[in-house]
Amino acid sequence: MSAQLINGTELSRQLRAEVAQRAAKLTALGKQPGLAVILVGTDPASQVYVRNKVKACEDNGLYSVMEKYDADMSEQELLARIDALNKDPKIHGILVQLPLPAHINAHRVIEAIAPEKDVDGFHISNAGLLMTGQPLFRPCTPYGVMKMLESIDYPVRGAHAVIVGASNIVGKPQAMLLLQAGATVTICNSKTRDLGHHTRQADILVVATGKRNLVTADMIKPGAVVIDVGMNRDDNGKLCGDVDFAHAREVAGYITPVPGGVGPMTITMLLVNTIEAAERA
Ligand code: GUN
Repeated sequence: MSAQLINGTELSRQLRAEVAQRAAKLTALGKQPGLAVILVGTDPASQVYVRNKVKACEDNGLYSVMEKYDADMSEQELLARIDALNKDPKIHGILVQLPLPAHINAHRVIEAIAPEKDVDGFHISNAGLLMTGQPLFRPCTPYGVMKMLESIDYPVRGAHAVIVGASNIVGKPQAMLLLQAGATVTICNSKTRDLGHHTRQADILVVATGKRNLVTADMIKPGAVVIDVGMNRDDNGKLCGDVDFAHAREVAGYITPVPGGVGPMTITMLLVNTIEAAERA
Protein backbone atom coordinates (compact mmCIF):
# COMPACT_ATOMS: atom_id res chain seq x y z
CA MET A 1 0.00 0.00 0.00
CA SER A 2 1.28 3.40 -0.94
CA ALA A 3 0.71 6.35 1.38
CA GLN A 4 -1.55 9.23 0.47
CA LEU A 5 0.46 12.39 -0.20
CA ILE A 6 -0.29 15.57 1.73
CA ASN A 7 0.28 18.18 -0.95
CA GLY A 8 1.57 21.39 0.66
CA THR A 9 1.62 23.26 -2.63
CA GLU A 10 -2.08 22.67 -3.26
CA LEU A 11 -3.09 23.35 0.36
CA SER A 12 -1.01 26.55 0.24
CA ARG A 13 -2.78 27.64 -2.92
CA GLN A 14 -6.14 27.37 -1.14
CA LEU A 15 -4.95 29.12 2.02
CA ARG A 16 -3.18 31.90 0.07
CA ALA A 17 -6.42 32.66 -1.77
CA GLU A 18 -8.00 33.35 1.66
CA VAL A 19 -4.94 35.41 2.64
CA ALA A 20 -5.28 37.53 -0.50
CA GLN A 21 -8.94 38.21 0.31
CA ARG A 22 -8.15 39.26 3.89
CA ALA A 23 -5.25 41.42 2.64
CA ALA A 24 -7.52 43.16 0.11
CA LYS A 25 -10.10 43.86 2.83
CA LEU A 26 -7.46 45.43 5.10
CA THR A 27 -5.98 47.40 2.21
CA ALA A 28 -9.43 48.83 1.42
CA LEU A 29 -9.54 50.04 5.04
CA GLY A 30 -6.18 51.79 4.55
CA LYS A 31 -4.32 49.12 6.53
CA GLN A 32 -2.42 47.05 3.95
CA PRO A 33 -0.58 44.30 5.88
CA GLY A 34 3.18 44.88 5.75
CA LEU A 35 6.10 42.52 6.38
CA ALA A 36 9.77 43.46 6.77
CA VAL A 37 12.29 40.71 6.08
CA ILE A 38 15.89 41.19 7.21
CA LEU A 39 18.76 39.11 5.91
CA VAL A 40 22.28 39.52 7.25
CA GLY A 41 25.01 37.85 5.19
CA THR A 42 24.99 35.74 2.05
CA ASP A 43 23.95 32.25 3.12
CA PRO A 44 22.60 30.82 -0.19
CA ALA A 45 19.70 28.89 1.36
CA SER A 46 18.64 31.94 3.41
CA GLN A 47 18.74 34.09 0.27
CA VAL A 48 16.31 31.72 -1.45
CA TYR A 49 14.01 31.59 1.61
CA VAL A 50 13.78 35.39 1.99
CA ARG A 51 13.23 35.89 -1.72
CA ASN A 52 10.36 33.40 -1.62
CA LYS A 53 8.87 35.12 1.44
CA VAL A 54 8.92 38.55 -0.20
CA LYS A 55 7.53 37.17 -3.48
CA ALA A 56 4.67 35.46 -1.63
CA CYS A 57 3.79 38.85 -0.07
CA GLU A 58 3.78 40.55 -3.46
CA ASP A 59 1.69 37.78 -5.06
CA ASN A 60 -0.99 38.04 -2.38
CA GLY A 61 -1.43 41.77 -1.91
CA LEU A 62 0.78 42.32 1.14
CA TYR A 63 3.29 45.14 1.36
CA SER A 64 6.84 43.97 1.95
CA VAL A 65 10.30 45.35 2.37
CA MET A 66 13.45 43.31 2.14
CA GLU A 67 16.55 44.61 3.91
CA LYS A 68 19.83 42.91 3.06
CA TYR A 69 22.99 43.63 5.03
CA ASP A 70 26.61 42.54 4.81
CA ALA A 71 27.76 39.74 7.11
CA ASP A 72 29.91 42.20 9.07
CA MET A 73 26.95 44.34 10.14
CA SER A 74 27.21 45.03 13.87
CA GLU A 75 24.61 43.83 16.35
CA GLN A 76 24.02 47.44 17.35
CA GLU A 77 23.20 48.44 13.77
CA LEU A 78 20.79 45.53 13.45
CA LEU A 79 19.09 46.43 16.74
CA ALA A 80 18.71 50.02 15.50
CA ARG A 81 17.00 48.79 12.31
CA ILE A 82 14.62 46.64 14.34
CA ASP A 83 13.83 49.60 16.58
CA ALA A 84 12.90 51.69 13.52
CA LEU A 85 10.71 48.90 12.10
CA ASN A 86 9.01 48.45 15.50
CA LYS A 87 7.90 52.10 15.19
CA ASP A 88 6.97 51.97 11.47
CA PRO A 89 3.14 51.91 11.16
CA LYS A 90 3.31 50.39 7.65
CA ILE A 91 5.07 47.32 9.05
CA HIS A 92 2.99 44.75 10.96
CA GLY A 93 5.45 41.87 10.88
CA ILE A 94 9.24 41.73 11.28
CA LEU A 95 11.22 38.64 10.35
CA VAL A 96 14.96 38.34 10.88
CA GLN A 97 16.14 35.34 8.87
CA LEU A 98 18.12 32.83 10.93
CA PRO A 99 20.87 31.82 11.28
CA LEU A 100 22.62 35.12 11.97
CA PRO A 101 26.42 35.56 11.74
CA ALA A 102 28.19 34.26 14.85
CA HIS A 103 29.15 37.71 16.18
CA ILE A 104 25.47 38.65 16.54
CA ASN A 105 23.53 37.35 19.53
CA ALA A 106 20.35 35.92 17.95
CA HIS A 107 18.49 35.86 21.29
CA ARG A 108 19.09 39.58 21.84
CA VAL A 109 17.94 40.33 18.30
CA ILE A 110 14.74 38.29 18.62
CA GLU A 111 13.93 39.89 21.99
CA ALA A 112 14.30 43.34 20.35
CA ILE A 113 11.38 42.68 17.99
CA ALA A 114 8.10 44.06 19.33
CA PRO A 115 6.13 40.93 20.38
CA GLU A 116 3.06 42.15 18.47
CA LYS A 117 5.18 42.25 15.27
CA ASP A 118 7.00 38.96 15.92
CA VAL A 119 5.35 36.98 13.09
CA ASP A 120 7.86 34.14 13.56
CA GLY A 121 6.57 33.68 17.12
CA PHE A 122 10.14 33.35 18.44
CA HIS A 123 10.15 36.15 21.08
CA ILE A 124 10.25 34.72 24.61
CA SER A 125 6.94 36.38 25.43
CA ASN A 126 5.35 34.66 22.42
CA ALA A 127 7.04 31.37 23.31
CA GLY A 128 5.62 31.75 26.83
CA LEU A 129 2.14 32.57 25.54
CA LEU A 130 2.26 29.47 23.32
CA MET A 131 3.45 27.30 26.19
CA THR A 132 0.65 28.51 28.45
CA GLY A 133 -2.00 27.87 25.81
CA GLN A 134 -2.71 31.48 24.79
CA PRO A 135 -0.71 31.89 21.57
CA LEU A 136 -0.46 35.30 19.92
CA PHE A 137 1.56 33.96 16.96
CA ARG A 138 2.11 30.29 16.21
CA PRO A 139 5.60 29.68 14.70
CA CYS A 140 5.09 29.26 10.97
CA THR A 141 6.39 25.75 10.29
CA PRO A 142 4.60 24.01 13.20
CA TYR A 143 1.46 26.03 12.40
CA GLY A 144 1.66 24.79 8.80
CA VAL A 145 2.02 21.20 10.01
CA MET A 146 -1.16 21.57 12.11
CA LYS A 147 -2.98 22.87 9.00
CA MET A 148 -1.77 19.81 7.06
CA LEU A 149 -3.17 17.48 9.74
CA GLU A 150 -6.42 19.45 9.67
CA SER A 151 -6.56 19.08 5.87
CA ILE A 152 -6.78 15.28 6.19
CA ASP A 153 -9.18 15.52 9.17
CA TYR A 154 -6.66 13.64 11.29
CA PRO A 155 -7.92 12.91 14.83
CA VAL A 156 -5.00 14.42 16.74
CA ARG A 157 -6.70 14.16 20.14
CA GLY A 158 -5.38 11.05 21.90
CA ALA A 159 -2.90 10.23 19.14
CA HIS A 160 0.76 9.63 19.94
CA ALA A 161 2.86 12.28 18.20
CA VAL A 162 6.61 11.79 18.04
CA ILE A 163 8.78 14.74 17.06
CA VAL A 164 12.36 14.17 15.99
CA GLY A 165 14.28 17.41 16.57
CA ALA A 166 13.99 19.84 19.48
CA SER A 167 14.75 23.24 17.93
CA ASN A 168 13.13 26.48 19.07
CA ILE A 169 11.94 27.02 15.47
CA VAL A 170 10.19 23.68 14.89
CA GLY A 171 10.46 20.86 17.44
CA LYS A 172 9.57 22.65 20.67
CA PRO A 173 6.70 24.79 19.34
CA GLN A 174 5.42 21.78 17.37
CA ALA A 175 5.24 19.83 20.62
CA MET A 176 3.23 22.63 22.25
CA LEU A 177 0.71 22.84 19.38
CA LEU A 178 0.23 19.07 19.26
CA LEU A 179 -0.08 18.88 23.05
CA GLN A 180 -2.69 21.63 22.97
CA ALA A 181 -4.58 19.65 20.33
CA GLY A 182 -4.72 16.69 22.73
CA ALA A 183 -1.88 14.51 21.44
CA THR A 184 0.48 12.57 23.67
CA VAL A 185 3.84 13.99 22.68
CA THR A 186 7.36 12.56 22.66
CA ILE A 187 10.26 14.84 21.67
CA CYS A 188 13.43 13.09 20.49
CA ASN A 189 16.78 14.82 20.09
CA SER A 190 20.28 14.04 18.85
CA LYS A 191 21.08 12.22 22.13
CA THR A 192 18.01 9.96 22.06
CA ARG A 193 18.88 6.28 22.44
CA ASP A 194 17.27 3.86 19.97
CA LEU A 195 15.41 6.48 17.93
CA GLY A 196 13.49 3.80 16.04
CA HIS A 197 11.96 2.48 19.28
CA HIS A 198 10.27 5.87 19.69
CA THR A 199 9.40 6.61 16.08
CA ARG A 200 7.75 3.19 15.65
CA GLN A 201 5.19 4.19 18.27
CA ALA A 202 4.17 7.34 16.42
CA ASP A 203 0.72 7.80 14.97
CA ILE A 204 2.02 11.20 13.86
CA LEU A 205 5.74 11.45 13.13
CA VAL A 206 7.24 14.93 12.59
CA VAL A 207 10.88 14.92 11.51
CA ALA A 208 12.89 18.15 11.65
CA THR A 209 16.60 17.44 11.95
CA GLY A 210 18.29 18.47 8.69
CA LYS A 211 19.76 14.94 8.36
CA ARG A 212 19.03 13.23 5.08
CA ASN A 213 17.55 9.71 5.33
CA LEU A 214 17.59 9.78 9.14
CA VAL A 215 14.18 8.12 9.22
CA THR A 216 13.93 4.90 7.24
CA ALA A 217 10.88 2.76 6.46
CA ASP A 218 11.57 0.29 9.30
CA MET A 219 11.24 3.16 11.79
CA ILE A 220 7.66 3.94 10.79
CA LYS A 221 4.49 2.40 12.21
CA PRO A 222 2.31 1.11 9.36
CA GLY A 223 -0.38 3.66 8.54
CA ALA A 224 1.28 6.56 10.41
CA VAL A 225 1.20 10.17 9.26
CA VAL A 226 4.76 11.19 8.38
CA ILE A 227 5.54 14.90 8.18
CA ASP A 228 9.00 15.66 6.79
CA VAL A 229 10.24 19.15 7.69
CA GLY A 230 13.79 18.46 6.43
CA MET A 231 15.29 20.43 3.57
CA ASN A 232 18.49 18.83 2.32
CA ARG A 233 20.29 18.14 -0.96
CA ASP A 234 20.97 14.61 -2.21
CA ASP A 235 24.16 13.56 -4.04
CA ASN A 236 22.74 14.92 -7.30
CA GLY A 237 21.91 18.29 -5.72
CA LYS A 238 18.18 17.55 -5.67
CA LEU A 239 16.08 18.75 -2.72
CA CYS A 240 15.17 16.01 -0.25
CA GLY A 241 13.91 15.71 3.30
CA ASP A 242 14.97 13.82 6.44
CA VAL A 243 12.87 10.77 5.59
CA ASP A 244 13.75 8.05 3.07
CA PHE A 245 10.66 8.96 1.06
CA ALA A 246 10.75 6.21 -1.59
CA HIS A 247 10.56 3.40 0.99
CA ALA A 248 8.69 5.26 3.75
CA ARG A 249 5.73 5.89 1.46
CA GLU A 250 5.18 2.11 1.24
CA VAL A 251 4.64 1.93 5.03
CA ALA A 252 3.06 5.26 6.02
CA GLY A 253 -0.64 6.06 5.71
CA TYR A 254 0.05 9.68 4.81
CA ILE A 255 3.32 11.38 3.95
CA THR A 256 4.51 14.84 2.93
CA PRO A 257 6.88 15.09 -0.07
CA VAL A 258 10.00 17.27 -0.28
CA PRO A 259 9.76 19.55 -2.14
CA GLY A 260 6.06 20.43 -2.21
CA GLY A 261 5.23 19.52 1.38
CA VAL A 262 5.94 21.57 4.46
CA GLY A 263 8.10 24.19 2.67
CA PRO A 264 5.32 26.15 0.96
CA MET A 265 3.18 25.86 4.13
CA THR A 266 5.81 27.70 6.20
CA ILE A 267 5.61 30.71 3.91
CA THR A 268 1.82 30.55 3.77
CA MET A 269 1.56 30.66 7.56
CA LEU A 270 3.96 33.61 7.64
CA LEU A 271 1.45 35.45 5.45
CA VAL A 272 -1.38 34.38 7.78
CA ASN A 273 0.55 35.65 10.82
CA THR A 274 1.24 38.97 9.10
CA ILE A 275 -2.47 39.35 8.29
CA GLU A 276 -3.35 38.54 11.92
CA ALA A 277 -0.85 41.18 13.10
CA ALA A 278 -2.35 43.79 10.77
CA GLU A 279 -5.89 42.91 11.83
CA ARG A 280 -4.89 43.41 15.48
CA ALA A 281 -2.96 46.64 14.85
N1 GUN B 1 15.49 29.97 9.42
C1 GUN B 1 14.96 28.73 9.18
N2 GUN B 1 13.63 28.74 9.40
C2 GUN B 1 13.31 29.99 9.79
C3 GUN B 1 12.06 30.60 10.16
O1 GUN B 1 10.99 30.00 10.19
N3 GUN B 1 12.15 31.92 10.48
C4 GUN B 1 13.32 32.60 10.47
N4 GUN B 1 13.30 33.88 10.82
N5 GUN B 1 14.48 32.06 10.14
C5 GUN B 1 14.47 30.76 9.80
